[in-house]
Amino acid sequence: MKYCLMFWMSMMSMFLMAQVTVCPGEIWPDDRGQHINAHGGGILCHNGRYYWFGEHKSDDTSAALVGITCYSSDNLSDWHYEGVALPVTDVPGDDLERGCTMERPKVIYNARTGKFVMWLHLELKGKGYSAARYAVAVADCPAGPYRYLRSGRVNAGIKPLDMEGDMAALDTLDAWKDAEWWTPQWRKAVKDGLFMRRDFADGQMARDQTVFVDVDGRAYHIYSSEENLTLQIAELTADYTAHSGRFIRVAAGGQNEAPAIFRYDGTYWLITSGCTGWAPNKARLFSAPSIWGPWQQHPNPCRGKDADITFGGQGTFVLPVGDTFVFMADIWRPKHPSDARYVWLPITFEDGMPVIHWHDEWNLDTKKARNE
Ligand code: GAL
Repeated sequence: MKYCLMFWMSMMSMFLMAQVTVCPGEIWPDDRGQHINAHGGGILCHNGRYYWFGEHKSDDTSAALVGITCYSSDNLSDWHYEGVALPVTDVPGDDLERGCTMERPKVIYNARTGKFVMWLHLELKGKGYSAARYAVAVADCPAGPYRYLRSGRVNAGIKPLDMEGDMAALDTLDAWKDAEWWTPQWRKAVKDGLFMRRDFADGQMARDQTVFVDVDGRAYHIYSSEENLTLQIAELTADYTAHSGRFIRVAAGGQNEAPAIFRYDGTYWLITSGCTGWAPNKARLFSAPSIWGPWQQHPNPCRGKDADITFGGQGTFVLPVGDTFVFMADIWRPKHPSDARYVWLPITFEDGMPVIHWHDEWNLDTKKARNE
């Protein structure tokens, strides 16, 4: 009897340990008692441990004064501060010079090379958002330290796979380069590839971004390009550290930022935001039968109070956990950047479509297996 009770008590505690309570929008202390400082981030699960990478934000500036931070956890609730995975430098003119902008880092693991590869959006110090570059770094251990490889624009001199017409046809768009923005003719030119053509020789702009490893091991870089007017999806090389040259344009002229992608039941789902800087706006939802499209837009997936402003947040990542997909978003605090909050909410499916309901508090079961 005694042993039976002990057995059930240990079974119960195993069950309870798999459940964590998530409180969206609240202060989230790490193992030092400090609010987690990993904004615009993403999470990698490696050998059963979760690694959360994000932007370190200071109290009074959004510029990078520290670098990309890393936290680790076994249960997604209690986070151990691992330190700065990719630090800024004090070298004048360096890509990562303190005061640059390092945003939306994501790390993926390459099973072939055994390396961890970090991608982020980089803006050079003192140049606002004009550089519009990706940056990439690699490490031997998930928490780093990461070795900086390079930054740049994407796929210079290469046409997207889905671009119809030859270069001569695209060249006619050049005439619209300095035209007045937002006129119907200008919008059409944007859709047809005006800024893709403008940046063809030097490479495509890359701002808000994520990276995604598909079930076949191929990885993709998904980023706001073409003056934040058009998303692009670019395949990475087999070692995940460069672009392969194959890419497409998504929602041309649709002004999407903050891409977060997941795959469920053979369908690719992409949640994005509009372009209103730090101010929240209505989330957008897209789906496609293949990473290469065709991508189709659906209504806002958020439901309930403040659903039209993504509950005050802007998406950053979708984390598959157990049988749940967790939508991760940031409530930005531009006047006090380090106080920005995390919104984690479960994605559920209604009539075959992903939806996100607000919860003041909810339980995440990290152990329940997904049936796909
Ligand atoms: C947002 C973007 C953020 C940051 C910000 C700067 O739209 O998603 O990552 O770049 O603009 O204003």
